Amino acid sequence: MSERSFNVFTARAEQIDPEANIIATYYVEGKDISIVEAGVKIAAEESIGTWTEVSTATEWIVKNLPAKVFEHKVQDKNTGIIKIAYPNTLFDFETGGIPHILSIVAGNLFGSSSLQNVRLLDLEFPSEFVSLFKGPKFGIEGVRKLIGTLDDRRPHLGTIIKPKVGLNPKETANVAYEAAMGGVDFIKDDETLTNQKFCPLADRVTHVMTALDRVKSETGRTVLYSPDVTTETYKLRDLAQVALDHGANALMVDVIPCGFSAVRLLAEDPSIKVPIHVHRCMHAAMTRNPKHGISMMVISKLVRLAGGDQFHTGTAAGKMGGKEKKIEELISINDFLKGRFYRLKATFPVASGGVHPTLVPINVLTLGKDLVIQAGGGIHGHPEGTRVGATAMRQAIDAAVNGVPLEEYAKTHRELAVAIKHWGMKFVSDD
Ligand code: 3PG
Repeated sequence: MSERSFNVFTARAEQIDPEANIIATYYVEGKDISIVEAGVKIAAEESIGTWTEVSTATEWIVKNLPAKVFEHKVQDKNTGIIKIAYPNTLFDFETGGIPHILSIVAGNLFGSSSLQNVRLLDLEFPSEFVSLFKGPKFGIEGVRKLIGTLDDRRPHLGTIIKPKVGLNPKETANVAYEAAMGGVDFIKDDETLTNQKFCPLADRVTHVMTALDRVKSETGRTVLYSPDVTTETYKLRDLAQVALDHGANALMVDVIPCGFSAVRLLAEDPSIKVPIHVHRCMHAAMTRNPKHGISMMVISKLVRLAGGDQFHTGTAAGKMGGKEKKIEELISINDFLKGRFYRLKATFPVASGGVHPTLVPINVLTLGKDLVIQAGGGIHGHPEGTRVGATAMRQAIDAAVNGVPLEEYAKTHRELAVAIKHWGMKFVSDD
């Protein structure tokens, strides 16, 4: 590394003002270069540098725009953690928003031939940037108010209609009715169901909402339904409107296929007055490799900024659950979504994927009560059907919240007993 590059692209920690920079933390593995050299490669490429010196860089550019490596922690030889400060002047926060931030802090660097691996672990934003976002319209408190759980603050129970595709609108509505009568608070489409011919969105929403109106008149309970409006950006607003016109009281979107701006588009539209449920399918292409990619924490921060009211973050036990380190990470992600973040409302973390009643206590004990715990197979796969499956899940939640061992609770709750007998303590492993 030349002395000039070192001087231009590094700084001491005390020189970095967190209000004047976006700060990115990376795990890096240099290819025969130190982690500071690796950091300088990133800082240069993502701000004003390229593979060679150029004669066109003015004094103003060199003074104001370089990103700077200002902290590093070597873990092993060429491997470690670095922090890079990207000066606010590098961005037009208002015009560029999240896409522009990502094209810098998570841009070309992932393909650099100087790096064996690189993972964006965290992002910290100056208040000037965050102040441009409205965040979740409802947040945890707003969703609890709609469902009626502001006082008892138990975890919400959600279900994903299964099979994930194939049912027609009437069949979908029948399953929704049964699930709601069994005790779910929230119903969502699966991430692959949108507007296919066998189950058109408008018809589906009409039938499901009619069924949920029936549930309301029979039980007094409000149940939310979020149809999946995942589509091309230019069609998103219109598709959301179709769902709303037919009565949808929530909306769902797949954030990685659609982009963070799709969530923001829905959340910041003043005419959309329902919560936005955000599914994370495709995230593992970025999050799964612990050495390379983008962490789930970064994705979660961007979803809260963009305005997701509910967001899938994973389970403490389920088909994606397991490793201790992952659980620690999951807890800190959920804590971030629930905790203070400037003036933005909190996002409800969603634990979903392979959950069934016997896995409820570990999820609730690990992740707390501000949680939407969801089951598809774990409700519709109950030997006595959807309604009983939903009741068994609600009983498992009640047992967990009251600190009663599941087997004990099952002695007086038959639906739960049947579920325990059917699934035992099985951890499913299919991602
Ligand atoms: C989801 O959307 O999280 C999955 O479809 C969950 O389905 P499962 O509960 O049947 O694993």
